[in-house]
Amino acid sequence: MPSAPPPQTFRVKSFGCQMNVYDGERMGELLSETGLTAAAEGQDADLVVLNTCHIREKAVDRVYSDIGRLKRRDGTAPLIAVAGCVAQAEGEEIMARAPSVKMVIGPQAYHRLPAMLAEAVAGRRSVDTDMPADSKFAALPARRRSGASAFLTVQEGCDKFCTYCVVPYTRGAEVSRPFGDLVAEAERLVEGGAREITLLGQNVNAWTGEDTKGRTVGLEGLIRALAALPDLVRIRYTTSHPNDMTDGLIAAHAEIDKLMPFLHLPVQSGSDRVLQAMNRSHTVESYLKLLDRVRAVRPDIALSGDFIVGFPGETEAEFAETVALIDMVGYALAFSFKYSPRPGTPAATMDGQIAPEVMDERLQRLQAAVGRGQFAFNRASVGHRCAVLVERKGKLPGQWLGKTPWLQSAHFIGNAAIGDIVEVELVDAGPNSLSALPLAAIAA
Ligand code: 5AD
Ligand code: SF4
Repeated sequence: MPSAPPPQTFRVKSFGCQMNVYDGERMGELLSETGLTAAAEGQDADLVVLNTCHIREKAVDRVYSDIGRLKRRDGTAPLIAVAGCVAQAEGEEIMARAPSVKMVIGPQAYHRLPAMLAEAVAGRRSVDTDMPADSKFAALPARRRSGASAFLTVQEGCDKFCTYCVVPYTRGAEVSRPFGDLVAEAERLVEGGAREITLLGQNVNAWTGEDTKGRTVGLEGLIRALAALPDLVRIRYTTSHPNDMTDGLIAAHAEIDKLMPFLHLPVQSGSDRVLQAMNRSHTVESYLKLLDRVRAVRPDIALSGDFIVGFPGETEAEFAETVALIDMVGYALAFSFKYSPRPGTPAATMDGQIAPEVMDERLQRLQAAVGRGQFAFNRASVGHRCAVLVERKGKLPGQWLGKTPWLQSAHFIGNAAIGDIVEVELVDAGPNSLSALPLAAIAA
């Protein structure tokens, strides 16, 4: 490969989960530190990083079509790096299939991006999908800027091995980042403007560390330390596994005001037989009991979940149990997916793979159930007063968009700025958002 002029501008495109969004931001900071500038919206970039997701088949197909689309009209292409979980799982295949890709960087190696970029400029393609024991986080530059709401990865990887899931293979075993590093990074985020921090991890509630006194603490210990930062007003965490929901973390929902009343707790299916085939190691009943315990300490908690339809062998009756569970729980938010066989996972070779049209039909019914629950949750919020964290401007003059404590999108017209906490009354509900009136306006 001939050497290329050093790139001046870059764009990072992240797909998939919030952890990828976080990783994408960190790669962007790293490239800025190296002297590159983020390409403006709509502007052609010299370097494009595709930060990919491997969780479902469609996400993988997208990578190849995106690589194709990066080709410019004159036949040239930007320098392309493929990062994230597809890079980890299919690194060599990408190199063979897509000659325009010059760098393949797994999720544990992206601190090596500048070195790999130098290689690419010198005309050499490189792959790094190592999962080193030393942390990539230590090699990243300090954080500078932040929006009103920021992500902070506290834990990566997964030891649960659900039979459908690639995460244990692409992100590796569960690793918790050290307490002190996280408090320091949170301080930087708050200095940079963050009012809300969402702690991220594939199994975030499996996080554990040693606090400043050398005591072993769980996620609630970290949340308590962050709650002590005066300018941080909201703390959230995602994604949790039911089996790692400890008494201490549940109690934190009652004790720590800054911890928002929202819990993303995927259950995947409402059928015990399917849960067992998924290797979820919990039952519908144990999950419901857990929700009761959380609701007992925080009655207004908003619940959120992930669901898979069409897992191999799922019968109509088993699917109906999932819909019944959704109707019973009343989720404020839920993500639903058609089962997608992932290479190397046990479920991919199970008998009883479900036909695509059956999956389509089940997904529609499941999403209708989720929609019913979400709209009902929003309608039940009307008349309540709460704080909205302002995240951005709306389309109408004087309109602002933000989030309620229950993670609903809310919009209002009034005087505000990004990062403000505005007290409002929720006055009208749609399926996906609420309109609000600032209390200051009501009083006037
Ligand atoms: N097929 C469909 N959905 C999946 N998920 C994970 N793996 C698969 C798969 N192979 C879903 C689960 C998980 C969410 C992040 O993605 O619901 O909670
Ligand atoms: Fe995947 Fe299951 Fe681990 Fe979640 S808990 S990341 S679904 S293996």
